[in-house]
Amino acid sequence: MLKLPRKHHTNQISHLVNNGARVKKQITLPSLALGCWPLAGMTRGGVTRQAAIETVAAAIDHGITHLDTAYCYGEHGESERAIAKAIRGRQNEVTIASKCGIHWQAGKKQAVDGRPDTIIREVKESLVRLEIDRLDLLYLHTPDPNIPIQESAGALRRLLDEGIVGAVGLSNGNVEECQLFAEICPLTACQRHFNMLQQEIRPVLLPYCQSKRIAMVAYWPLMKGLLTGRMTRDQVFSHTDSRHKYLMFQGEEFQKNLDFVDAIQSLAAQQNRSLVSLVLAWTMAQKGITTVLFGATSAKQVATNAQALACHLEDSTVFAINEAIQQRGPILGSRKV
Ligand SMILES: NC(=O)c1ccc[n+]([C@@H]2O[C@H](COP(=O)([O-])OP(=O)(O)OC[C@H]3O[C@@H](n4cnc5c(N)ncnc54)[C@H](OP(=O)(O)O)[C@@H]3O)[C@@H](O)[C@H]2O)c1
Repeated sequence: MLKLPRKHHTNQISHLVNNGARVKKQITLPSLALGCWPLAGMTRGGVTRQAAIETVAAAIDHGITHLDTAYCYGEHGESERAIAKAIRGRQNEVTIASKCGIHWQAGKKQAVDGRPDTIIREVKESLVRLEIDRLDLLYLHTPDPNIPIQESAGALRRLLDEGIVGAVGLSNGNVEECQLFAEICPLTACQRHFNMLQQEIRPVLLPYCQSKRIAMVAYWPLMKGLLTGRMTRDQVFSHTDSRHKYLMFQGEEFQKNLDFVDAIQSLAAQQNRSLVSLVLAWTMAQKGITTVLFGATSAKQVATNAQALACHLEDSTVFAINEAIQQRGPILGSRKV
């Protein structure tokens, strides 16, 4: 069994609860955590409930005990329900982060709804699915363009004051949204995509979070499987595989990305490491990145990915990776941050 995350980010939050008393709360975020979106079979189909449960159990066994899920991971909360089964009798070993404010509509369409009543209702439902009575961390999944973000923040603040959540985060927000949010509710963590090929948070959001001591939790470290070396030049994504919608998986962009993966793969091979552990270790080592959330669909993948915890990067390796990133050049379809 591998031992413990290398660095921890502890965020002390001090805020006034409704009766005017000042309380201190604390959450510790590890350097590596399990992202539980793929457990619901949402990236590609065909992930069984049993595989999902085994994936979570393997993560805990490897010391990866922070589990990141959301109300909308699975049309009917399949991710939260699988986590509940996997952690039965082990609740004290894990910290659980969930998100609210996105749900599924008929026709497999996601809808953003950050209204306070919706948030409160979704969180109550998440707790039932997860079979717990408190979330360690709750994010607003994304700002709702139809209402002021302060209204959503007010609902999360209420849940924080009532002790139903231990800490609050904002996912997919920009600096201005973080500022408005934090006026109403103490902000412990931001969650955005970040990987070797997608570093849009670097110039503005990342330094802002560092300056405010807000943890940065990075998602898509493996770019939804692209950076694992599993994809082939003639890869065909089925209609149930959501990756076909992203420019990074299409045409010339996809081929250029695979050239990049080949370059990192040969670096990993020279060092007798798995590509995935090198990719994750590089992401974990980036200044300002607090936690890296990787998704997985099997215990075997978790075991490989956990090797990143013990992966020390030489300066020469970091240099070679950064060179390869430079050579890859601008990425089409970058996401706005
Ligand atoms: N806040 C947000 O809006 C937001 C958005 C996206 C994600 N997230 C969070 O971030 C987490 C990470 O993102 P993600 O899961 O979408 O993408 P990811 O971590 O970049 O990639 C996960 C995929 O990589 C493949 N993989 C993982 N380990 C592997 C290994 N050792 N060997 C081969 N393939 C491997 C698996 O593909 P297969 O499925 O093909 O096995 C897995 O589904 C999510 O699970 C979720 O918790 C948050």
